[in-house]
Amino acid sequence: MKKKQPIGLFDSGIGGLTVAKAVKNILPNERIIYFGDTAHLPYGDKSEAAIQAYSIKIADVLLKEGCKVILIACNSASSSAYELLKEYVGKRTKILNVIDPMVDFIGSNFQNKNVGLIGTKRTVLSQVYEKKIKSLDVDIALNSLATPLLVPMIEEGYFNNKISHEIIEEYLNHENLQNIDALILACTHYPLIKEEIQDLTMNKIEIVDSADVVALSLKQYLEKENILNEKNDDSDTFLISDFTESFASSAKTFFDSPITLKQHPLWD
Ligand code: DGL
Repeated sequence: MKKKQPIGLFDSGIGGLTVAKAVKNILPNERIIYFGDTAHLPYGDKSEAAIQAYSIKIADVLLKEGCKVILIACNSASSSAYELLKEYVGKRTKILNVIDPMVDFIGSNFQNKNVGLIGTKRTVLSQVYEKKIKSLDVDIALNSLATPLLVPMIEEGYFNNKISHEIIEEYLNHENLQNIDALILACTHYPLIKEEIQDLTMNKIEIVDSADVVALSLKQYLEKENILNEKNDDSDTFLISDFTESFASSAKTFFDSPITLKQHPLWD
């Protein structure tokens, strides 16, 4: 792999831009190619088979762009399609996901603690976090809760307001999330409501989102393989499978600075 080749990231939509942003912060010399599958959003309610089919199509796009790494910037796709994608791309590129770095982080930081986790139905049903944490053989009690209203709520720009407070509080009051020391935000949309959750829990529990943890682990991988880009003069590319003005304006919020989205249908 060449140092100059771009890093590919993908998500069901624009939520993964929170990860892309963290990657750009920590790796400013890297060029990124982001793919948001807005035509098939949300992934959280889809079957594993559907998410696998979309992920393969997206991997083809990112492979064509010559990505030196493809980072699945979506928990739902990481839980459904990571193993399959690894097999599919073989030696052509490296596939990374957002779950493994988080599992390592949880394993090293929350031994003997009660940890809560919120995510989409697909992520929570897969029990991927439970299985991976169990394989670490550490004493951590993990309780998960599917919170399917949060993605559409955030996508519609509903955060830091009365309605989002009510929805988040309702979820936080669920029995699965009682007496926890930390709460894992296992969805790449949720960094946008991290502060709100922090306020609603009165800073009594640690709220952990994956963006920085994942970006750091990507950096470590590039360093280990000696494929860090030293200088980048090319601009980043942001592709979405279905373009609407509403995605264009929300993208700014997720990426925290203006970007240009280009339409790139997954099927011709
Ligand atoms: N951002 C995706 C994730 O991390 C979820 C959004 C969706 O349901 O499509 O799981």
